[in-house]
Amino acid sequence: MSTSLLEELKLDIWNPALTAAAQAAATDALEAGRILYLPRLEFALLPHEQRFLSAEWSDGQTKNINLRGGERKLRGARGGADDLALMQAMMERFSSQCATLIGALLPRYVPHLTLASTSFRPCEVAGRKSSYRKDDARLHTDAFPSNPTGGARVLRVFANINPQGKPRAWRVGEPFADMAARFLPRARRAWPGEARLLRALRVTKRSRSAYDHLMLQLHDRVKADAGYQRQAPQERIDFPVGSTWIVFSDQVLHAAMSGQFVMEETLMLAVSGMRAPETSPLRVLERMTGQRLA
Ligand SMILES: [Fe+2]
Repeated sequence: MSTSLLEELKLDIWNPALTAAAQAAATDALEAGRILYLPRLEFALLPHEQRFLSAEWSDGQTKNINLRGGERKLRGARGGADDLALMQAMMERFSSQCATLIGALLPRYVPHLTLASTSFRPCEVAGRKSSYRKDDARLHTDAFPSNPTGGARVLRVFANINPQGKPRAWRVGEPFADMAARFLPRARRAWPGEARLLRALRVTKRSRSAYDHLMLQLHDRVKADAGYQRQAPQERIDFPVGSTWIVFSDQVLHAAMSGQFVMEETLMLAVSGMRAPETSPLRVLERMTGQRLA
């Protein structure tokens, strides 16, 4: 692939020794809205883990099998206790390899990161039915209805572990600021007391900041606009089996079109930990609205 959306790194181990210049270049590419693409970095399953490559392990309630936050309780899977313990160990190994990789590649982030979740996605993405808001086959930037970030970045690491050689197919859209310029004028303002009410009703786990409100508005309005989905600048990217990629998913417009069996790690990064905080969606939206948003 030769698209300018990707910053390709030929690493094949999770703990590479990199120069400070290479680390800075990777960080800058990521913050500029590019995807760090590591075609030769494979998350290898152990022999006894191969059997987890089946959609049968999903409980059918949620699209992903998850370990969340500090609690690390396995959700979304069904099976015997011994099997699920082995599956959790596989996911924890992925999580710790991601931490190792970020320490090697993006070390300045380490003191500013919080682990949000680790997921294993055993279900085929193509043809999944859902409401437009939940339809991740539509271009969107990530925003969480119940989990406000307060401006913190959403850093995600993906690895395609499909056993049949099937790529993970994404569409990737235009730069965040271009999308925001189009959709911000259509964003609904939060009404007075809305954040307090949502918190009181436990719709949100923390108070929803003005930033989180706007990010949800952008997420929903972009997904709802069929014309934009069809005509907006975009590129298809196929992530092959055995590849890993890293992306700020709150910044990069993405849509998952097809693929099955992917590992995914989500970390939250404080804006103050960035090399170029002015590139964050928080600062972009603050410049556009002329307001402090978080
Ligand atoms: Fe997403």
